[in-house]
Amino acid sequence: MTTSPVGREIDRVDGRLKVTGAAQYSGDYPAPDTAYAHVVTSTIARGTIRGIDTAAALAAPGVLRVYAAEDTRLSLYPVADPYRGLAESYLPLRDTTVRFHGQAIAMVVAESVEQARDAAALVTATYDAQPPRASLADGPRVPSGPTLTGSPSQVTILAPGVESIDEALAASDVVVEAEFEQPMQHHVAMEPHAVLAVWDGDQVTVHAGAQIPSAYALVLSQRLGVLPPQVRLIGRYVGGGFGARVVLYSDAPLAAAAARELGRPVRLTLTREQMFTLTGHRSQVTQTLGLGASRDGVLNAVSHGSVAQMPAIGGFTMTPAHATSDTLYPTPNLHIDPRQVILDLPISRAMRGPNEAPGAFALETAMDELAVATGVDPVELRLRNYATATPTTGRPWSSKHLDECYRDGARRFGWSARSATPRARVDGQWLFGTGMATAVYPATRHPASVRIRLLDDDTAVVSTATSDLGTGAWTMVAVAGADALGIPLERVTPEIGDSDLPQGAPAVGSSATHSTVPLIVGAARDTIAELKRRAVTDSGSPWHGTNAEDLRYERGSLHANGRSMTFGQLLTALGSRGVDATASAPAGAPAGYAYHSFGAHFCEVRVNRLTGETRVTRFTTVADVGRVINVRAARSQIVGGVVFGIGHALLEHNPLEPDTGRLAASTLADYLVPVNADIPDIDVHLLDRPDPLLTGPIGDDGGEVGTRSLGARGLGEIGTVGSAAAVGNAVFNATGIRVRDLPITLDKLL
Ligand code: MOS
Repeated sequence: MTTSPVGREIDRVDGRLKVTGAAQYSGDYPAPDTAYAHVVTSTIARGTIRGIDTAAALAAPGVLRVYAAEDTRLSLYPVADPYRGLAESYLPLRDTTVRFHGQAIAMVVAESVEQARDAAALVTATYDAQPPRASLADGPRVPSGPTLTGSPSQVTILAPGVESIDEALAASDVVVEAEFEQPMQHHVAMEPHAVLAVWDGDQVTVHAGAQIPSAYALVLSQRLGVLPPQVRLIGRYVGGGFGARVVLYSDAPLAAAAARELGRPVRLTLTREQMFTLTGHRSQVTQTLGLGASRDGVLNAVSHGSVAQMPAIGGFTMTPAHATSDTLYPTPNLHIDPRQVILDLPISRAMRGPNEAPGAFALETAMDELAVATGVDPVELRLRNYATATPTTGRPWSSKHLDECYRDGARRFGWSARSATPRARVDGQWLFGTGMATAVYPATRHPASVRIRLLDDDTAVVSTATSDLGTGAWTMVAVAGADALGIPLERVTPEIGDSDLPQGAPAVGSSATHSTVPLIVGAARDTIAELKRRAVTDSGSPWHGTNAEDLRYERGSLHANGRSMTFGQLLTALGSRGVDATASAPAGAPAGYAYHSFGAHFCEVRVNRLTGETRVTRFTTVADVGRVINVRAARSQIVGGVVFGIGHALLEHNPLEPDTGRLAASTLADYLVPVNADIPDIDVHLLDRPDPLLTGPIGDDGGEVGTRSLGARGLGEIGTVGSAAAVGNAVFNATGIRVRDLPITLDKLL
């Protein structure tokens, strides 16, 4: 009797490997005769390289090569459509143009990592510099392009007879208007980007962390001018992605091209300082919110504008009013106006909740201001503006229990004990306050393939080229495989993080689990069908010559005619090592519905009256994320998201010098993220309501596999969405001070 591991507290199947150091991250793989690379970066933000002096570096001990701008030995090529967006828009070290401060302009390869780094410090460059465009004031505010889903990012909807959003706002009983500032943020994954490139003839294996292994290998093949099958990406263990490991940056092409030219494996590891400019960041954004409501808090008009940085070399188009436009709160008058300013900055990338997290900080803070202005409790205000269909397109949700998140969260947190009056709770030097906010994140199904192989030792291998960024994907694949096959978790071997496996779901957009699990179910069904076919056609089988329809598969065994065999016993009888099948599905879920995960955050802070220091003392999040596959991993993901939000609210920023275009932070002592001492116990409750549509119909065929869809929905990012607003709203409740420019540092509270 096997009990399904779904919905339980499961230890990570890769946990022991990780805590013992046996899990090899991309920087850990050994290769004989490895040479080490170190990049040299530009010290201006815009201009042309006049000359690079490599003589001293070339003469330094152990140096094998110094590649500098205009080096033709590297043989790199542009990436073609439709993959252009998955690579940088220029070729590294190809020309003398400097596009941002911290761009790679040279690379040293040496016998040791120390020799490479030492010699890199001897490379000097002269420039013809131009003043960079580095501030949001430095350029025209051009309308942003389409949203991630391709819909226009500019939206204006007005009630009959209303001429403009300003008129609708002016006609409202209560109006809140406010501007919100959020600085650049960095993914700062714990594991720096590291690449090892090893050529074997015309085949290259690249060890690197990648959120989309198959796309990474494909794009790299184009960069290197080779065919896709010639590139294999292995990144089984990855120390954080958060959006910084989606596209191909300069590091892997440089390492792989140098390894090809040199005829030796090359390892290139970026320093923490280089990570700030060479691996993407979240753009700085200013948002303007206007909320007009009736006296009892029902919205009549919403205006949400934004101005975000956009690097001239390209990057992520931030449309932070995403959730305002067609998700959260209905309003008869709506105006969404995202804009961007083209600047000489390093590439920007999506970062955890790429539109939703910055957007929710503005919207959910403005909603708190509306609660204050109307005297309506913040939870009640959101229930009064609750959407039962998408506000502008009128689609029903596949599943939405946000009201339950609000009510459960309020109860768990003890929200009713709160005073709406700021500074009402004082304990010695500390002012206590509470705040809440809504979280919402869209769910999209991506294409994926999964192969399952049943082996003669009664184990199963579940293979798909998705990636575990620390998210728990290894365990998710094992748990879903064990459930689909009805066998114990220990008998399932997951295989992921390798572009040679069947194309996996991208580990982006909180979608890997709900894109992968239905294919695991499908592959299990197809593999068992193949097992049955073998059972009736192979002469070594006791069921030879019978009908496959009469065979029943249950919990790892076939049964028919009063006889039972495990699949391992049958395969052994057949003299076969295993049977396998691969299931694939395109992107998408049934049309006509909206798919989102939801949540509600509740936060308590204490703020020191004398120093302005803010400490988060309690945090409760209730999330509606469909069926939960592994409760422990799911809770960890939400906790991680909330920690991200706390960092966003209180700590993270990287000042940009407007005159030089230089980012100030070079270490994690400059760029602060929360440490354990900054984080209280975070109470996470998951509603565990299966989504009946996103992953296909939910059902149970009474033991036979293959018709059960678990109804999971993504949760990797939703913890980040709204959590910064919950912190800021609690700070307001504690102090009476509304801080609209993040982070909420102590100087802003004095
Ligand atoms: Mo995520 S920001 O979709 O990698």
